[in-house]
Amino acid sequence: MKSITMYCGITLAFVAFSAQGATSADKGSAIAQKAGCTKCHAIDRAKVGPTWQDLHIKYRDDAGAQKRVSAKLKDAGSEHPEIPVRSKDIDVLIPWIVAGPEKSPEAYKKGFSKADKAGCTKCHSMDNKKVGPAWKDIAAKYKTDKGAEIRLGEKLKNAGDDHPEIVVNGGDRKILIPWVLSL
Ligand code: HEC
Ligand code: HEC
Repeated sequence: MKSITMYCGITLAFVAFSAQGATSADKGSAIAQKAGCTKCHAIDRAKVGPTWQDLHIKYRDDAGAQKRVSAKLKDAGSEHPEIPVRSKDIDVLIPWIVAGPEKSPEAYKKGFSKADKAGCTKCHSMDNKKVGPAWKDIAAKYKTDKGAEIRLGEKLKNAGDDHPEIVVNGGDRKILIPWVLSL
């Protein structure tokens, strides 16, 4: 009996420790939730504001972004919708956004980092038309089209005919097309 109690104690301690680890690893995400950012922004779904993914892509190579965007949010109400958020939290949130929400397990599952690595994000973004259509518009276009997954897979396989030429292997296509259609 004593050893069972001890075992439970150790397990509980371990669970508590893991939970704490997960929280600190995704501090930005927790603050975004608490500060109400997630009412208008999501990782990969267009809401009132742009997705975290699109903002990450927009700013990751822009050395002055953190300073500028932080200043914009601290002055919210002029350009950005007014939000009650502490300046100290903004100092965590902006680097978190610029560093990339693909670190979150949710985004990994959904294929974003794969699309990014395969170079799709040069021409596609979640919300807005770039060189190619927005992912959400592609998903909407094929929403009721049961054959879309196979046809789009073929189209990307033969990229260079209809679609601009890209190099993407079969395994990646099998993940990317269902991901785009699921958005
Ligand atoms: C009421 C809705 C709303 C809330 C709440 C909100 N945002 Fe936004 N956000 C927007 C809209 C709309 C835009 C696009 C217009 C713009 O760039 O200001 C935007 C744009 C942004 C941008 C890009 C700015 C740029 O210059 O490209 C960042 C970064 C951002 N929001 C971060 C946040 C953070 C962090 C929070 C939480 C503290 C937050 N937002 C809360 C609506 C919202
Ligand atoms: C060089 C720019 C470029 C790159 C890189 C690119 N695309 Fe595209 N994509 C386009 C353009 C332009 C269109 C619109 C023309 C078309 O439908 O083929 C498009 C259309 C699409 C469509 C919709 C096709 C249809 O029939 O409606 C899908 C799905 C798609 N792209 C997926 C991807 C994926 C996945 C990747 C990465 C492996 C990728 N694209 C990389 C430019 C690009």
